[in-house]
Amino acid sequence: MPKAMGPSIDQKIKHLKELREQSKLGGGQKRVEEQHAKGKLTARERIELLLDAGSFNELDQFVAHQCTEFGMADKKILGDGVITGYGTVDGRLVYVFSQDFTVFGGSLGEMFAKKVCKLMDLAMKTGAPVIGLNDSGGARIQEGVASLGGYGDIFFRNVISSGVIPQISAIMGPCAGGAVYSPALTDFIIMVDKTSHMFITGPDVVKTVLGQEVTFEELGGAMIHSQTSGVAHLIAKDEEHCIQIIKKLLSYVPSNYLEDPPTQETGDDPNRIDESLARILPDDPDKPYDIKEIINRVVDNGEFFEIQPLWAQNIVIGFARLNGKTIGVVANQPTRYAGALDTNSSMKAGRFIRFCDAFNIPIITFVDVPGFLPGVEQEHGGIIKHGSKLLYAYCEATVPKITVILRKDYGGAYDVMGSKHSGADINYAWPTAEIAVMGPHGAINIIFRKEIAEAKNQEQKRDELVSEYRQKFASPYIAAQKGYIDEVIEPAETRPKLISALESLATKREPRPSRKHSNVPL
Ligand code: HXC
Repeated sequence: MPKAMGPSIDQKIKHLKELREQSKLGGGQKRVEEQHAKGKLTARERIELLLDAGSFNELDQFVAHQCTEFGMADKKILGDGVITGYGTVDGRLVYVFSQDFTVFGGSLGEMFAKKVCKLMDLAMKTGAPVIGLNDSGGARIQEGVASLGGYGDIFFRNVISSGVIPQISAIMGPCAGGAVYSPALTDFIIMVDKTSHMFITGPDVVKTVLGQEVTFEELGGAMIHSQTSGVAHLIAKDEEHCIQIIKKLLSYVPSNYLEDPPTQETGDDPNRIDESLARILPDDPDKPYDIKEIINRVVDNGEFFEIQPLWAQNIVIGFARLNGKTIGVVANQPTRYAGALDTNSSMKAGRFIRFCDAFNIPIITFVDVPGFLPGVEQEHGGIIKHGSKLLYAYCEATVPKITVILRKDYGGAYDVMGSKHSGADINYAWPTAEIAVMGPHGAINIIFRKEIAEAKNQEQKRDELVSEYRQKFASPYIAAQKGYIDEVIEPAETRPKLISALESLATKREPRPSRKHSNVPL
């Protein structure tokens, strides 16, 4: 009997190629066209934009769901609605998963989740960032509890990876229900304007339960989450912009907590003196100015990459470089509430500081803070609890911490905003700094109440006392006498001073007592 011959090697390779092509079709041409018509790219097009050309290695291309309910046995699509793999961005290894809305609305089932988990496990083993491109209708209803379990497995990995590898989430379509918690557990969320939405319960449920009419955009659009909730860190005008933002973020951060951030040759002179810095401060200490003008003039080439620019604008956070090295900047913004700290700004800066500390990014703080924002709304909103998050984050951070006090630094906010007492390594003050328990007006109203009440001309008396107080106490010199300020510097020399301080701190080590973990005031 002649031996039965199976398909030849060439035929097998041809079959493999066909399967590969089939998996690339996702939910089919019609659904791809629908995706494009919504102004959205496909999951594969997004990966192509993100990764260096030709660097993508896809994993689990032939995975399919195992569900038999609701007629699903006949509807298997290779890849199961998520594309996973690894490649490089600017030559650095990253892991990426990209949810494919053309396959069951990008909904997540058991095998889909397994693909994402496998990717996250590999990223942890190799110490590389995970980028998630989200575009999904949430838990795949047909797969029931297996979908919920799948989400849970991803959430668990998000938490275990936190502080080990950077995790970045782009929201490029719907992100609904419990699905929002995976992005929420990651370090940064970027939402595409108009085409992305995040919410726990959608407009239909809101209407049924509460009788409120609300659109997708009003409930969980990119603008709402960038301006109002603070859930999103950055808003992108379209998908290309979103991918650019991811790449930019990656350029500032190391691949894992054991590495230093990448350095870049910026060409900006480390000894650059800037005489114009002093003139940004108005003569009247109660007048606002834009802190970003100061930051831009100090950092390399004026390049400040602001994070959460639209939320809690009384504090400014973001990445920049000094002599080519990544820094995290935290700065009060006098144009908003005179730079006072409130609940949202404390949470915003606190979380940012914790990210920087986890990933070896030194923190530079520019201080101009009149105190904590007073009022019933703040007290009832938990300013005690939320303000302590910022204080906690500063005290906890062991990366190099350098603080520059530009102008006001009053009350509890003095301690909080990167003071010596919160463990800052080098504290500078400009000669314009005013460091005291409270601002002149509040202080004289308390300690000279009687004298003011008895004065013939109360306004005049007040002015005299304010000016006396300002001269005597609202300066950097009392703090400098006590060593709370290491050096009073000229504004012009801020950049070279910061750079030499950073260099001196490059080998900083600050061990802390061993414990299971600390108890951050969540
Ligand atoms: C299965 C789903 C799906 C889902 C969408 N699809 N969501 N299939 N499970 N969760 C399917 C649709 O049936 C449709 O298939 C295709 O995807 C495209 O969906 P459309 O509705 O036609 O698209 P669009 O009009 O753009 O609306 C998108 C959408 C909507 C807003 C996302 O589909 C939607 O509201 N889906 C449900 C969202 C949701 O409530 N998810 C569950 C959340 S609960 P066909 O074949 O008809 O074209 C959850 C719990 C997680 O996620 C808990 C974790 C702890």
